[in-house]
Amino acid sequence: MSGAAESPGAGQAGRQPIIRTKNLKKSFGRLEVLKDITLEVPEKSLFAVIGQSGTGKSVLFKTIIGMLKPDGGKVWFKNTELTALGKRDLSKIRKSFGYSFQNAALFDSMNVGENLAFPLREVLGISSKGEIKKRVSELLEWIELPGIELKRPDELSGGMRKRVGVARALIMRPEVLFFDEPTTGLDPVLAETINDLVVRVNKELYITCVMITHDIPGAFRIADKICFLDQGYIIADGSPAEISGSQHALVKEFMRISFGGLEK
Ligand SMILES: Nc1ncnc2c1ncn2[C@@H]1O[C@H](COP(=O)(O)OP(=O)(O)OP(=O)(O)O)[C@@H](O)[C@H]1O
Ligand SMILES: [Mg+2]
Repeated sequence: MSGAAESPGAGQAGRQPIIRTKNLKKSFGRLEVLKDITLEVPEKSLFAVIGQSGTGKSVLFKTIIGMLKPDGGKVWFKNTELTALGKRDLSKIRKSFGYSFQNAALFDSMNVGENLAFPLREVLGISSKGEIKKRVSELLEWIELPGIELKRPDELSGGMRKRVGVARALIMRPEVLFFDEPTTGLDPVLAETINDLVVRVNKELYITCVMITHDIPGAFRIADKICFLDQGYIIADGSPAEISGSQHALVKEFMRISFGGLEK
């Protein structure tokens, strides 16, 4: 579907970071979740965050987008320091971001068309019914689910729901799309189709994608850059090839389980 897997990391050199963090810290009471996170997401890259469950991936995601306030450190979007902004300015900038949250549900009381129209009306303030209808139908075609506007979320399969969730995040035409576990709960074949959709978002629409995932082979197949989080720190960071060559014991163990676990 795309050439992403052929040359991981290719074309990244010289790209400006679109998102940066420096010395980011976040605790909940005594629990120090993020201890010192400094990272750069290159513009238009497909950036994956991996790591064990409970290690702070979702907290990192929420801290970057400003849903959680860090206890220390800074976050930038392009040249704007998000951590220095007030609520109103932050919410303006956040219109440049789209999110597909872990376990994010569509609104069950609304059909698919209404689910997609909602952010256009409520966030972007578009009132033209014609424009909304056009954008919704074009996007459903783009995610290869044309004409399902009138279906209710509970009539969709898990894979279809995930695709519609991605579409809802895309409809605002964000510059950066954040995915928290887009393939969790899907069988491996469906997971691949969602990974392919993320690649299309990145390579066809030129949207920077930041993806948190448990799907290590998937991340290695599609990401330009991978960041491995453990116990509040980044323990490996680079192209898939660079991560594969990491000598860190936990990274090596992850690689062995993910790629070599069935070999005996
Ligand atoms: N709002 C919160 N208040 C208190 N503790 C929290 C809060 N959010 C997260 N935590 C704690 O922070 C730690 C990291 O949680 P987080 O959700 O970031 O993990 P994760 O890496 O995304 O895990 P998973 O892979 O299972 O999704 C956990 O111990 C969690 O209980
Ligand atoms: Mg999580």
